[in-house]
Amino acid sequence: MPARQFFVGGNWKMNGDKKSLGDLITTLNTAALNDQTEVVCGAPTIYLDFARSNLDARIGVAAQNCYKVAKGAFTGEISPAMMKDCGIDWVILGHSERRHVFGESDELIGQKVAHALENDLGVIACIGEKLEEREAGTTEKVVFEQTQVIADNVKDWSKVVLAYEPVWAIGTGVTASPQQAQEVHEKLRQWMRENVSESVADSVRILYGGSVTGGNCKELASQPDVDGFLVGGASLKPEFVDIINARG
Ligand code: 13P
Repeated sequence: MPARQFFVGGNWKMNGDKKSLGDLITTLNTAALNDQTEVVCGAPTIYLDFARSNLDARIGVAAQNCYKVAKGAFTGEISPAMMKDCGIDWVILGHSERRHVFGESDELIGQKVAHALENDLGVIACIGEKLEEREAGTTEKVVFEQTQVIADNVKDWSKVVLAYEPVWAIGTGVTASPQQAQEVHEKLRQWMRENVSESVADSVRILYGGSVTGGNCKELASQPDVDGFLVGGASLKPEFVDIINARG
């Protein structure tokens, strides 16, 4: 079984300006990054071109969302075709803020996943339970249902990474313990084995997201089913370099 390449995504969310993102980009471009780690930065739409033009070519750029068709009367949306035109190779889809702040349904997320993949974008597909769902003991049910809708829309898993981001850990400073993360990742991989295929279960990268920092990344990265991270707040800081290098 080939080793899964460690993957670290930064999700800048709706943060930064040309000055601060420019400084961050300089830090990343000049840092000693583990060349075994795949690195992708998710920029706000208006800074996608800026990020792609300024980031070193070894670092990928992701949009944080996209629409499900190529063009048309969809005010405010951008399409995978437009992203490809600007050299953007990845898109984050199904993020909890898209699901729970903007009310995106599983169905819409699935349609976006299918369209992005048809356009040869890589997809960082996010799933995760809310606190009340964890407390009610329904974590597995929730993440399996979310993953099912994604899986229904994927033909080629080589362009997909899954990001398990428990909603209660996002932006809260309450990181899942390495054991909590490993437990869900292992179950997700088992679900993939039973519902997709052995080879996809072995090869798909499952990222953890939710209050990952320079301080907690190494222990999380040591878990066998944690294949990388999707990082919010800490991806805007120099410690993002330490997270990229978590698996030394
Ligand atoms: P934080 O790292 O700020 O908790 O955000 C995680 C996240 O939502 C990444 O997509």
